[in-house]
Amino acid sequence: MSEQTIPIQTRIQLGPLILKNPVTVASGTFGYGAEFMPFFNIGILGGIVVKGIHPDPRSGHPQPRLVETASGMLNCIGLQNVGVDAFIRDKLPLFDKLDTACIVNINGNSIDEYVSVAEKLTATQQVDALEINVSCPNVSQGGIVFGIDPVMTEKVTRAVRERTHLPLIVKLSPNVTDITAPARAAMNGGADVLSLINTLVGMAIDPIRRRPILSNITGGLSGPAIKPIALRCVWQVHRAVPLPIIGMGGISTGLDAIEFMLAGAAAISVGTANFVDPCAAQRILDEMVDYCRENAVTDIRTLTGALEIDHL
Ligand SMILES: Cc1cc2nc3c(=O)[nH]c(=O)nc-3n(C[C@H](O)[C@H](O)[C@H](O)COP(=O)(O)O)c2cc1C
Repeated sequence: MSEQTIPIQTRIQLGPLILKNPVTVASGTFGYGAEFMPFFNIGILGGIVVKGIHPDPRSGHPQPRLVETASGMLNCIGLQNVGVDAFIRDKLPLFDKLDTACIVNINGNSIDEYVSVAEKLTATQQVDALEINVSCPNVSQGGIVFGIDPVMTEKVTRAVRERTHLPLIVKLSPNVTDITAPARAAMNGGADVLSLINTLVGMAIDPIRRRPILSNITGGLSGPAIKPIALRCVWQVHRAVPLPIIGMGGISTGLDAIEFMLAGAAAISVGTANFVDPCAAQRILDEMVDYCRENAVTDIRTLTGALEIDHL
């Protein structure tokens, strides 16, 4: 059998969630899916994580809210979204026609808000998994971001867990000293899967105008600039917590994705690369399969955590 025809097993398992391949797209970088249909058959993906959904529609922060940086991008979109009711009515039906997992990223400014979005999505019976974005401010705690505090991370995870039977992913923020602390908290709260990393807080300044460039002054840094940090986080969490990981942060090529799997990810997400090339996720999947063929990997799952370290 020639190298080209060796069948590669690409199916992976994230706790209760099975994906036909490890390539997903990251929340907020792929709209609600339909926006990318003119570019490629999005049904080939293992899963699509849609833009974060709140209980009510939100218009987000005013412009400017995107700025390019060295090897990255800063955004302060401000979680613009159509709200859970319009999402269910207008966006979710698309997924009936697609052979890919629909993963909905959920947001809230209180535990009750997360729970209400989770309950409504669970009732549709059309969603494959929920991803809790703990990078939202908790209004009742003076705006402290849920994911910065392991106690709040555990509480919001448990509250959602009690109201849904869907596979539950908790998306971790890297804006902490020790990412294994919120990872453990999410596990204790009942998470099935961890996804990491979300963006890093950054800032851009226009020196001529002596003003911040983004309307919100600070924003989330993403793209290749954050890849080494994201790899370190995935590796640390994989060693500390026995939950499957969806790794992301600056993945632009199939080899980037393979690095995340070696560090411990069972699946990966393509984020900012979708802005550079709308077909990036498709290409990355092809490049991962090519890597497997070239390196005699017949089952992609065997790459997870297969990093070899001689001196540990
Ligand atoms: C424009 C933009 C919007 C985003 N919106 C969300 C969101 O709604 N919820 C969320 O959990 N993460 C959101 N993220 C974070 C990404 O899903 C991802 O975690 C991060 O960008 C790192 O991956 P990347 O470097 O490949 O983009 C957003 C990122 C960008 C660039």
